Amino acid sequence: MTGIRTFGRQLSDLPSQLPPELRGPDWVQANPVLIQKHLDRALALSTGGWFAIDASAAITGAPRPYLIAGRELVVWRAEGALRVAPDACPHMGARLSDGSVKAGRLVCPWHGLELADGKHGAWCPFESHDDGVLAWVRLPEEGQDPTARPILSERPEVFLDSIMRMEARCEPRDVIANRLDPWHGVHYHPHTFKRLRVIGIRDDRLVVRVVYGISDRLGIEVDATFHCPDPRTITMTIVDGEGTGSVVETHATPLGAGRTAIIEATLATSERTGFRRALKAAGLIRPFILKAQRRLWVEDAAYAERTYELRQSVNRGNLPQDSLGDSSPRS
Ligand code: FES
Ligand SMILES: [Fe+2]
Repeated sequence: MTGIRTFGRQLSDLPSQLPPELRGPDWVQANPVLIQKHLDRALALSTGGWFAIDASAAITGAPRPYLIAGRELVVWRAEGALRVAPDACPHMGARLSDGSVKAGRLVCPWHGLELADGKHGAWCPFESHDDGVLAWVRLPEEGQDPTARPILSERPEVFLDSIMRMEARCEPRDVIANRLDPWHGVHYHPHTFKRLRVIGIRDDRLVVRVVYGISDRLGIEVDATFHCPDPRTITMTIVDGEGTGSVVETHATPLGAGRTAIIEATLATSERTGFRRALKAAGLIRPFILKAQRRLWVEDAAYAERTYELRQSVNRGNLPQDSLGDSSPRS
């Protein structure tokens, strides 16, 4: 798109010539083989057994049910501490998420059994972690060595956070693959991305130069990288321009078969003096960030659902494998 004015910090000059794979129209650059290579690399990383549950602030003293990796869980806070356990009472199986918390103990709604943070028969809370932004649970996962803490990417020290959660009919890999295809940005989200170019691939990180539209004629231009710290997370980091150091962590948590929760934490930061004032007005600003996040993810969830649907069709033999993947400029 031409005619858009940008403001903000001056970016470094682009290399005079981009490598051959980063030239040509977006549909040629968005090479499915390259995207799959980056996805395979991400899928080979360790999860440490950790699953993002929701925003840390979404978990209160009132127990809530969550389905994660096929397990029904109850999540609550006991005197401020995050707790996660099976959502079935060890007595006769009542849903503990229908119960209450009294003096730090989870109380079963059927016969009043009180459960603390230790084992009760076969019932045992899972390891959990609250990183101040997101709540996590560690579950037994085949082929994964458990780690003491979730594997997080670097976060800014001071930030304004906004956390979005939505569900989609796909697998976590479809959510990650969507973000490993930045080339769809201007075509699929023209309301948000006014210009977007992949300008490099450094240390397995895709580097993009992107103009976020503020209005039809005005935008902010930044350089950002995309990388996966684990197989279920992709992080965008602003590395040059306005808001350098800001991150958007997108976590994809499997729920049940073909269902995934997209949990996205935007942690915005700035060196500008006015940013401290902005932090005081976080409550006013956050709904705008959330609205923009949700708008993009409604579209991207549809993209991820489509890739899932296509994979299912190929797996069932309803779609020939070789009917997709053409990014040849000849056609
Ligand atoms: S089912 Fe929970 S106390 Fe009986
Ligand atoms: Fe997108």
